[in-house]
Amino acid sequence: MDKRWIRDGQVMDKRWTRDGQEMDKRWTRDGQEMDKRWTSGNTGLVGGSVPVFDEVVISTSLMSNIESVDELSGVVVCQAGCVLETIDQHLEQFGFMMPLDLGAKGSCHIGGNVATNAGGLRLLRYGSLQGSVLGLEAVTADGTVLDCMSSLRKDNTGYHIKNLLIGSEGTLGIITKVAILCPVRPQAISLALLSLDSFSTALATACRAKSMLGEILSSCEFIDASSMECVTKNLNLVCPVAAANCYLLLETSGSNGEHDQAKLEAFLERSMEESGVQDGTLASEPSRMSKIWQLRERLAEALLLEGYVFKQDISLPLTEYYALVEKTRLHLGNKVSRCCGYGHLGDGNLHLNITVPHYSHEVARMLEPWLWEQVAACRGSISAEHGLGFKKRNDIHFSKAASAVALMQQIKKLMDPKAILNPYKCIPDIY
Ligand code: MLT
Ligand code: ZN
Repeated sequence: MDKRWIRDGQVMDKRWTRDGQEMDKRWTRDGQEMDKRWTSGNTGLVGGSVPVFDEVVISTSLMSNIESVDELSGVVVCQAGCVLETIDQHLEQFGFMMPLDLGAKGSCHIGGNVATNAGGLRLLRYGSLQGSVLGLEAVTADGTVLDCMSSLRKDNTGYHIKNLLIGSEGTLGIITKVAILCPVRPQAISLALLSLDSFSTALATACRAKSMLGEILSSCEFIDASSMECVTKNLNLVCPVAAANCYLLLETSGSNGEHDQAKLEAFLERSMEESGVQDGTLASEPSRMSKIWQLRERLAEALLLEGYVFKQDISLPLTEYYALVEKTRLHLGNKVSRCCGYGHLGDGNLHLNITVPHYSHEVARMLEPWLWEQVAACRGSISAEHGLGFKKRNDIHFSKAASAVALMQQIKKLMDPKAILNPYKCIPDIY
């Protein structure tokens, strides 16, 4: 299968490498390379959708019908192969929006989003897919079509099988259809970008944003100086605020523009009084907001232009959030070109990225398990939102107790006795 990730017409190098070896992922049929229509989203970052040994690839691309939108409840029912952005655009006419938004929205499929329990840029406001997905349909290992297609918000009847499938990365069933509860599309959106002298100022400002903006805060993203330098330099983008050690991107979404603007301005005025807040800009005009969002959303793409990227997606207590980036930078020293941190600060989710010109065994060995030990020591998670896929499944014990992993393995054995559903992914083998 062609693994390239296309976003806004830009081809992103998503080729899967193993121990530095590029693996040939092109999907051919009768010697013919297959058309893009036959490929699925493949926007995952841990090799969860990549065939590695003897797998058969199933694409849900042609299952792209949006079946219904309930205008009263805001529940959309759609097939697994619908592109996230397409569903969101469809919902606009009904005054709703998707509760999930991420950089890969133009090509990722909702089935994959649900299978990985994708988080994204607005989890802070709309919660995780475990809450928004009200129902799903999946095909189990024996071919049964499992109908858990409830559209009810409240349904405490028996075990929540649906929640077991959300985030199981295709290892317990193939999700074919979902029912998602969508929030009302906001009437007024504003975006503020602030530059700050240190992570502690960023954290204090983020806490102030939570208390002063309350229910209208829809995103709280962090970017460090190295990440900002990477995205502006590699993609020729302009940062509209003064250069600093840290940046915060704060989005508000609400139903009353004047009210929201007044709240945001009060927050910004108060923040600007702090000596550590160096500069700020506010945007409400869609094209200006989109330019600012690119500085955050295109970071993954910018990093790929530097060679090989060791991508880490970690949940940490906020007190440890940036200390880990600094510690890793010291630990790796000049063995790497860049060690930077950005992410969903509002959710305690750090994307720690390390770039090298070419894959380096030495850096790989220095990084793991050292990094997982640091994360485990502060009871963080080694995968906040990307899942474990092929890359991290054997490291699960750094975030989950042996008893929990053993139970997962029993569930896998029960639901997939022949290990045919996304084998070699998500949890360690038991067969
Ligand atoms: C993001 O937040 O941009 C995505 O999770 C991808 C990444 O880790 O860069
Ligand atoms: Zn992310």
